[in-house]
Amino acid sequence: MNWRAMTPADLPAVSTIAAEVHPDFPEDEAVFAERLRLYPAGCHVLAGGDGVAAYAISHPWPALSCPPLNALVDALPADATSYYIHDVALSRAVRGAGHASAIVAALAGHARSIGCAAMSLVAVNGSAGFWSRHGFTQAKAPSLATKLASYGDDALFMTRALA
Ligand SMILES: CC(C)(COP(=O)(O)OP(=O)(O)OC[C@H]1O[C@@H](n2cnc3c(N)ncnc32)[C@H](O)[C@@H]1OP(=O)(O)O)[C@@H](O)C(=O)NCCC(=O)NCCS
Repeated sequence: MNWRAMTPADLPAVSTIAAEVHPDFPEDEAVFAERLRLYPAGCHVLAGGDGVAAYAISHPWPALSCPPLNALVDALPADATSYYIHDVALSRAVRGAGHASAIVAALAGHARSIGCAAMSLVAVNGSAGFWSRHGFTQAKAPSLATKLASYGDDALFMTRALA
Protein backbone atom coordinates (compact mmCIF):
# COMPACT_ATOMS: atom_id res chain seq x y z
CA MET A 1 0.00 0.00 0.00
CA ASN A 2 1.21 3.49 -0.77
CA TRP A 3 0.20 7.03 0.03
CA ARG A 4 -0.90 9.01 -3.01
CA ALA A 5 -2.71 12.28 -3.66
CA MET A 6 -6.43 12.21 -2.83
CA THR A 7 -8.86 12.82 -5.69
CA PRO A 8 -12.59 13.65 -5.61
CA ALA A 9 -13.29 10.02 -6.57
CA ASP A 10 -11.78 8.93 -3.23
CA LEU A 11 -14.26 10.93 -1.14
CA PRO A 12 -16.86 8.14 -0.65
CA ALA A 13 -14.10 5.82 0.63
CA VAL A 14 -12.77 8.59 2.88
CA SER A 15 -16.25 9.05 4.33
CA THR A 16 -16.58 5.31 4.94
CA ILE A 17 -13.26 5.18 6.82
CA ALA A 18 -14.15 8.30 8.80
CA ALA A 19 -17.46 6.74 9.90
CA GLU A 20 -15.66 3.54 10.93
CA VAL A 21 -12.82 5.26 12.77
CA HIS A 22 -14.57 8.30 14.25
CA PRO A 23 -18.13 7.20 15.11
CA ASP A 24 -18.27 9.81 17.89
CA PHE A 25 -17.09 12.67 15.66
CA PRO A 26 -19.14 12.44 12.45
CA GLU A 27 -18.20 14.80 9.63
CA ASP A 28 -20.08 15.34 6.40
CA GLU A 29 -18.45 14.32 3.14
CA ALA A 30 -18.86 17.97 2.13
CA VAL A 31 -16.25 18.89 4.75
CA PHE A 32 -13.69 16.49 3.28
CA ALA A 33 -14.59 17.66 -0.22
CA GLU A 34 -14.09 21.28 0.76
CA ARG A 35 -10.65 20.69 2.29
CA LEU A 36 -9.62 18.75 -0.84
CA ARG A 37 -10.79 21.65 -3.00
CA LEU A 38 -9.11 24.28 -0.81
CA TYR A 39 -5.80 22.46 -0.31
CA PRO A 40 -5.27 19.36 -2.46
CA ALA A 41 -1.54 19.29 -1.63
CA GLY A 42 -2.46 18.37 1.96
CA CYS A 43 -4.87 15.52 1.15
CA HIS A 44 -3.67 11.96 0.68
CA VAL A 45 -5.00 8.41 0.72
CA LEU A 46 -3.30 5.11 1.47
CA ALA A 47 -4.32 2.80 -1.35
CA GLY A 48 -3.52 -0.67 -2.63
CA GLY A 49 -5.17 -3.58 -4.38
CA ASP A 50 -8.09 -3.60 -1.97
CA GLY A 51 -8.75 0.11 -2.40
CA VAL A 52 -8.42 3.02 0.00
CA ALA A 53 -7.56 2.08 3.61
CA ALA A 54 -6.59 5.41 5.17
CA TYR A 55 -6.59 9.12 4.58
CA ALA A 56 -4.78 12.25 5.71
CA ILE A 57 -6.26 15.74 5.43
CA SER A 58 -4.23 18.85 6.28
CA HIS A 59 -3.83 22.47 5.29
CA PRO A 60 -2.25 25.76 6.34
CA TRP A 61 -4.13 27.45 9.18
CA PRO A 62 -3.51 30.25 11.72
CA ALA A 63 -1.41 29.36 14.76
CA LEU A 64 -3.18 28.40 18.01
CA SER A 65 -6.47 27.96 16.18
CA CYS A 66 -8.59 25.08 14.89
CA PRO A 67 -11.72 24.92 12.76
CA PRO A 68 -14.84 23.70 14.57
CA LEU A 69 -15.66 20.04 13.98
CA ASN A 70 -17.75 19.22 10.91
CA ALA A 71 -17.83 22.80 9.63
CA LEU A 72 -17.09 24.35 6.27
CA VAL A 73 -14.43 27.06 6.45
CA ASP A 74 -15.11 28.62 2.99
CA ALA A 75 -11.49 29.69 2.49
CA LEU A 76 -8.07 29.32 4.07
CA PRO A 77 -7.39 32.46 6.17
CA ALA A 78 -4.71 34.84 4.93
CA ASP A 79 -2.77 34.55 8.21
CA ALA A 80 -2.36 30.78 7.88
CA THR A 81 1.25 30.65 9.11
CA SER A 82 0.92 27.28 10.82
CA TYR A 83 -0.02 23.88 9.36
CA TYR A 84 -3.09 22.06 10.64
CA ILE A 85 -3.56 18.28 10.50
CA HIS A 86 -7.31 17.86 10.22
CA ASP A 87 -7.06 14.08 10.49
CA VAL A 88 -4.92 11.04 9.87
CA ALA A 89 -7.15 7.96 10.04
CA LEU A 90 -6.35 4.36 9.21
CA SER A 91 -8.67 1.38 8.98
CA ARG A 92 -7.82 -1.08 11.72
CA ALA A 93 -6.43 -3.64 9.28
CA VAL A 94 -3.59 -1.37 8.16
CA ARG A 95 -2.53 0.06 11.52
CA GLY A 96 0.79 -0.71 13.18
CA ALA A 97 2.77 -0.88 9.94
CA GLY A 98 4.30 2.59 10.00
CA HIS A 99 1.92 4.10 7.44
CA ALA A 100 0.72 6.81 9.82
CA SER A 101 4.25 7.77 10.80
CA ALA A 102 5.23 7.96 7.14
CA ILE A 103 2.48 10.40 6.23
CA VAL A 104 3.09 12.54 9.33
CA ALA A 105 6.75 12.85 8.28
CA ALA A 106 5.67 13.75 4.76
CA LEU A 107 3.22 16.37 6.01
CA ALA A 108 5.92 17.90 8.21
CA GLY A 109 8.26 18.06 5.21
CA HIS A 110 5.56 19.72 3.13
CA ALA A 111 4.71 22.21 5.88
CA ARG A 112 8.38 23.16 6.18
CA SER A 113 8.67 23.53 2.42
CA ILE A 114 5.89 26.13 2.33
CA GLY A 115 7.42 28.08 5.22
CA CYS A 116 5.13 27.12 8.10
CA ALA A 117 6.69 27.66 11.51
CA ALA A 118 4.65 25.00 13.31
CA MET A 119 2.09 22.24 12.98
CA SER A 120 -1.00 21.72 15.09
CA LEU A 121 -3.90 19.30 15.52
CA VAL A 122 -6.65 18.21 17.84
CA ALA A 123 -5.83 14.77 19.26
CA VAL A 124 -8.86 12.53 19.83
CA ASN A 125 -9.46 8.81 20.37
CA GLY A 126 -6.54 8.56 22.80
CA SER A 127 -4.12 9.34 19.98
CA ALA A 128 -2.05 11.89 21.98
CA GLY A 129 0.62 9.23 22.62
CA PHE A 130 1.05 8.71 18.88
CA TRP A 131 1.38 12.46 18.30
CA SER A 132 3.84 12.82 21.19
CA ARG A 133 6.11 10.36 19.40
CA HIS A 134 6.09 12.80 16.51
CA GLY A 135 7.12 15.78 18.61
CA PHE A 136 3.71 17.26 19.38
CA THR A 137 3.00 18.60 22.84
CA GLN A 138 -0.21 19.88 24.37
CA ALA A 139 -0.77 23.64 24.00
CA LYS A 140 -3.34 25.17 26.30
CA ALA A 141 -5.05 28.07 24.57
CA PRO A 142 -8.07 29.41 26.49
CA SER A 143 -9.36 31.02 23.29
CA LEU A 144 -9.80 27.52 21.85
CA ALA A 145 -11.93 26.10 24.64
CA THR A 146 -15.30 26.39 22.89
CA LYS A 147 -14.15 24.96 19.56
CA LEU A 148 -12.18 22.23 21.32
CA ALA A 149 -15.28 21.18 23.24
CA SER A 150 -16.91 20.19 19.94
CA TYR A 151 -14.22 17.47 19.65
CA GLY A 152 -15.17 15.78 22.92
CA ASP A 153 -14.07 15.92 26.55
CA ASP A 154 -10.66 14.29 26.09
CA ALA A 155 -9.61 16.30 23.02
CA LEU A 156 -6.16 17.89 23.27
CA PHE A 157 -4.85 20.74 21.13
CA MET A 158 -1.25 19.85 20.28
CA THR A 159 1.50 21.74 18.47
CA ARG A 160 4.96 21.04 17.14
CA ALA A 161 7.54 23.60 16.09
CA LEU A 162 9.14 23.10 12.68
CA ALA A 163 12.85 23.82 12.62
C1 LIG B 1 -3.41 7.04 15.57
C2 LIG B 1 -3.15 6.22 14.30
C3 LIG B 1 -3.16 7.15 13.09
C4 LIG B 1 -1.79 5.55 14.42
O1 LIG B 1 -1.64 4.66 13.34
P1 LIG B 1 -0.57 3.45 13.41
O2 LIG B 1 -0.74 2.65 12.17
O3 LIG B 1 -0.63 2.76 14.70
O4 LIG B 1 0.78 4.25 13.34
P2 LIG B 1 2.23 3.69 13.07
O5 LIG B 1 2.22 2.26 12.64
O6 LIG B 1 2.91 4.66 12.17
O7 LIG B 1 2.77 3.74 14.57
C5 LIG B 1 3.89 4.41 14.94
C6 LIG B 1 4.18 4.16 16.40
O8 LIG B 1 3.22 4.85 17.21
C7 LIG B 1 2.67 3.96 18.17
N1 LIG B 1 1.29 4.32 18.45
C8 LIG B 1 0.24 4.20 17.62
N2 LIG B 1 -0.87 4.67 18.22
C9 LIG B 1 -0.50 5.09 19.45
C10 LIG B 1 -1.19 5.69 20.55
N3 LIG B 1 -2.50 5.93 20.49
N4 LIG B 1 -0.49 6.02 21.65
C11 LIG B 1 0.85 5.77 21.73
N5 LIG B 1 1.56 5.22 20.71
C12 LIG B 1 0.89 4.88 19.59
C13 LIG B 1 2.79 2.59 17.53
O9 LIG B 1 2.80 1.59 18.53
C14 LIG B 1 4.12 2.70 16.80
O10 LIG B 1 5.17 2.45 17.70
P3 LIG B 1 6.56 1.77 17.24
O11 LIG B 1 7.13 2.66 16.17
O12 LIG B 1 7.37 1.74 18.47
O13 LIG B 1 6.17 0.43 16.72
C15 LIG B 1 -4.22 5.11 14.10
O14 LIG B 1 -4.30 4.35 15.30
C16 LIG B 1 -5.61 5.60 13.76
O15 LIG B 1 -5.93 5.80 12.60
N6 LIG B 1 -6.45 5.80 14.78
C17 LIG B 1 -7.84 6.19 14.57
C18 LIG B 1 -7.94 7.59 14.01
C19 LIG B 1 -7.37 8.62 14.95
O16 LIG B 1 -7.69 8.67 16.11
N7 LIG B 1 -6.53 9.47 14.36
C20 LIG B 1 -5.95 10.58 15.07
C21 LIG B 1 -6.93 11.69 15.05
S1 LIG B 1 -6.26 13.11 15.88
